[in-house]
Amino acid sequence: MNDKRDGFGSKLGAIAAAAGSAVGLGNIYRFPCLAGENGGGAFLLIYVLIVLCLGIPIMMAEFYIGRRGGKNPVGSIKALAPKSHWNLIGYTGILAAFVVLAFYSTVSGWTLEYIYKAITNYFADKDIAAIEQGFTEFHNNPFRPYMWQVIFMGMTAFIIFKGIKDGVEKYTKILMPALFVILIILCVKSLTMDGASEGLKFLFKPDFSKVNGTMFLAALGQAFFSLSLGMGALITYGSYISKKDNLATTSLSVVVADTMVAILAGIIIFPAAFSFGIQPEAGVGLAFNTLPMIFDKMVGGYFFCIIFFILLAIAALTSTISLLEVIVTFLTEEHGMKRNTATWFGTLVSLFFGIFCTLSLRQDSVFVFGDMTFFDFMDKFSANILLPIGALLIVIFVAWKMKKESFYDEITNQNTLKIAVKGFVFFIIKYVAPFVIIAIFINQLING
Ligand code: PFF
Repeated sequence: MNDKRDGFGSKLGAIAAAAGSAVGLGNIYRFPCLAGENGGGAFLLIYVLIVLCLGIPIMMAEFYIGRRGGKNPVGSIKALAPKSHWNLIGYTGILAAFVVLAFYSTVSGWTLEYIYKAITNYFADKDIAAIEQGFTEFHNNPFRPYMWQVIFMGMTAFIIFKGIKDGVEKYTKILMPALFVILIILCVKSLTMDGASEGLKFLFKPDFSKVNGTMFLAALGQAFFSLSLGMGALITYGSYISKKDNLATTSLSVVVADTMVAILAGIIIFPAAFSFGIQPEAGVGLAFNTLPMIFDKMVGGYFFCIIFFILLAIAALTSTISLLEVIVTFLTEEHGMKRNTATWFGTLVSLFFGIFCTLSLRQDSVFVFGDMTFFDFMDKFSANILLPIGALLIVIFVAWKMKKESFYDEITNQNTLKIAVKGFVFFIIKYVAPFVIIAIFINQLING
């Protein structure tokens, strides 16, 4: 029997946890480069419009399913639409959690290796070629990447073992403020360097000539991944949100926090890079090669490099716990597992796939299909296929299968809250979101 179900003890706890899920590796090294390459301020403007107009309504749709259904993604949908096949949406979410966790835990493990490298002053006086060489050697090392991946998943499991209030909520309430403090320290440092204004111009100067369909869709894809939309994470967390909390303001806070972190990351990276005349490259190379080299050149860089990788590790950890929680809540509620057993099971299965992701990055790896590593496959399969399909099914379910009254009832806490925008939000979920998601999806299929 399910006695009293665990849950977040406060609205702030719920926001910290959901923002923790949203704020992740994607914000820190993906967003700034996308913005810089796609017209700076113009991209930013479009991104902010997208997260406000689409991100908030879809997040509310996910919280609605979770809180009204009161269970894991599969169980919640079963509760809302009994005896139907809609619970397939829930299974897509569980699958996505395993897939994202597999490649995400690989990169998360790297953050620990790089904290270690930063502390032992490994980067001192190395040029970019030497640092890149070190990164390759690390991938080829038969032991270290796996060790860090296992340790990282161990840390994730440690928090999940403890439950929602005493685990997820307690730790995200400490980790998220710590993350903001580190971000602010790094921003101040970056902004006070010579040449900072060049970097800011790159990030913020609007270049509307770059606005086109592809850029628009890049912003959409980034918004979905960054806000953790389209899989079970926010449905699961929604099921733990108190019936008294306001889902609209919770969603707004999460979206604002996530976007602020992305912008602050840009404010750290570009001014620092431009001060040394470096055009930052995109992706993992930026975080694990370029930035350590830049830190090495700056005054106090030893300290700033350490806290930067701690920042990355924290951002990753609050995201991996949300992914593991999806799996654990599902296994306990749908398969009657004990929380401890489910945590072990979820951790070991995702590590199993995760290890193959890590193995696939070795130079001599056999887990490479054509020119796509298993790691890339899991990344693309989730971000480009599973998440958009999940999000599409979620909005269709909420707007077309469920009744408008049910949605209004839940987000107004049974008519005790006044949510002036509820009609607008429902309109977006019903008529705008499905078409936009289909557009992103088709574009991603065509482009790769
Ligand atoms: N939002 C995370 C990021 O930006 O890195 C990634 C993520 C975490 C996606 C959790 C989905 C999820 F459920």
